[in-house]
Amino acid sequence: MKRHPSLVPLSHDHHDVLVVAQGLILGRSPAPRSDWPTDRRAQVDRVVTFFAQTLRSHFEVEEAHLFPAVVAHLPSAANLVGQLLDEHEAIRTRIRDMERDPTTDLDVRLPALGRLLETHVRREERVLFKTMQREMAPADLETLGSRLGRRAPGSASCRVSRPVADSEHPNPARPSQRAS
Ligand SMILES: [Fe+2]
Repeated sequence: MKRHPSLVPLSHDHHDVLVVAQGLILGRSPAPRSDWPTDRRAQVDRVVTFFAQTLRSHFEVEEAHLFPAVVAHLPSAANLVGQLLDEHEAIRTRIRDMERDPTTDLDVRLPALGRLLETHVRREERVLFKTMQREMAPADLETLGSRLGRRAPGSASCRVSRPVADSEHPNPARPSQRAS
């Protein structure tokens, strides 16, 4: 299903999350020319920086605009939104935990964080966004899109690594098409 233009900016972030998640799960990047570090301690810094520069504001936009719109227009999706909010909190907790202790059991903790990120983003792309596009009125999606476009200054376009080419995407079953 082609992603609705209103949701494309969030899907772009999701693509970046999946790239980071793969690096955490595998311990290396599947892309041959990636600058993702193989050192686990360096991966902690990368994911903490990614959260501070991209994911924190992404969560805030979803919580301020996306989720309330879903609950307002699709009351049957309230449980799903509750689950996604719980996952946001779980991810925040794990990032704080990484900042507090960036050295212990990294071969366990980093893949676990990666799997949580991957599961969460796939749920948003494959369940939430799909449901929204199927069941929300086009005008309501447009209105939401105009809100999602208003981000805090400096919160957008601050990726920690160079953009990943389509051919380097970690999963061919990519959740979205990048608009370029
Ligand atoms: Fe998201």
